[in-house]
Amino acid sequence: MTQKHIRSIDDLGQSGIEEILALSDHFHEVSTRRIPKVPALRGKTIALLFYEDSTRTRLSFETAAKRLSADSLNFSIGSSSVKKGESLRDTVETISAMGVDAIVVRHGSVGVPWLLPSWTGAAVINAGDGSHEHPTQALLDCYTIRNHLGELNGKKISIVGDIKHSRVARSNIKAFLALGASVTLVAPKTLMPFNTDDWGVDTTDQFDSVIEDSDVLYMLRMQLERQQSSYVPSLREYANEYGLSDIRTQNMKPKSLIMHPGPMNRGVEVSSNVKEHPKSVINNQVANGVIIRMSALYYLLGSGSETKFESFDDE
Ligand code: NCD
Repeated sequence: MTQKHIRSIDDLGQSGIEEILALSDHFHEVSTRRIPKVPALRGKTIALLFYEDSTRTRLSFETAAKRLSADSLNFSIGSSSVKKGESLRDTVETISAMGVDAIVVRHGSVGVPWLLPSWTGAAVINAGDGSHEHPTQALLDCYTIRNHLGELNGKKISIVGDIKHSRVARSNIKAFLALGASVTLVAPKTLMPFNTDDWGVDTTDQFDSVIEDSDVLYMLRMQLERQQSSYVPSLREYANEYGLSDIRTQNMKPKSLIMHPGPMNRGVEVSSNVKEHPKSVINNQVANGVIIRMSALYYLLGSGSETKFESFDDE
């Protein structure tokens, strides 16, 4: 069997996404147990190779590995031989020689997860490559929406903000469309990519025109670290035009959601108390991140058929 990877939502397609969402219902049940852990990946080793900062993605992969009884190797750039000039290839080959079954990689350069399979036999999960893709974020977002609003089919999702630099937007667009939702991208012209014509989405620079009609307002962080020049006159002006303020939340339709992948710039893309708003599912996204990453690891490394996961509760 050829090795499966999750480098892009394209590696999964609709059936792979559905399979991971279905597994997540089982792992959600596991997360409610007194001991939220199963032996499903006992004996497997997962390496976390993060060349960029991360809080929730890294911690949730680490937690997911532990809850599946896998061992994890945490590779921290700051204390590694990368500081001595070791190349990506040598680093991957070294980790691989220690015997790993999966490598979770985050890197500032687009395409890095596609290079790894020529250097290692391990399964590869992309935890973010530059401004390209971040597929497990999209999976946890689909799972969160489905849990709150039911099937995504027919839902209207508006993704708002710095689309140009957002790997979250690129993966989410593919996943939302694959599950039958319609997607509108909302951004000032300077932060809208040029090539959206064949993406299958609508675009607008008028945030207020989509608020009443959207089932989900998906707010993106202003990725100031990826912006080479000034894309907006000032952050204050951006917040006025594109920030989700308290007044704007009042125009949202009754059963609709506010989402954000984190980390948030409070007072820029969202007002300071939006995370605590009754429509916000931002904390649910984080909790679902662990469940989805358990599913992603199990999808790649598990036996495939098992769905009644053994319990540790009786030990
Ligand atoms: C995102 C990322 O790093 O791509 N965060 C995350 O993984 N939750 C989004 C961002 O940095 O804005």
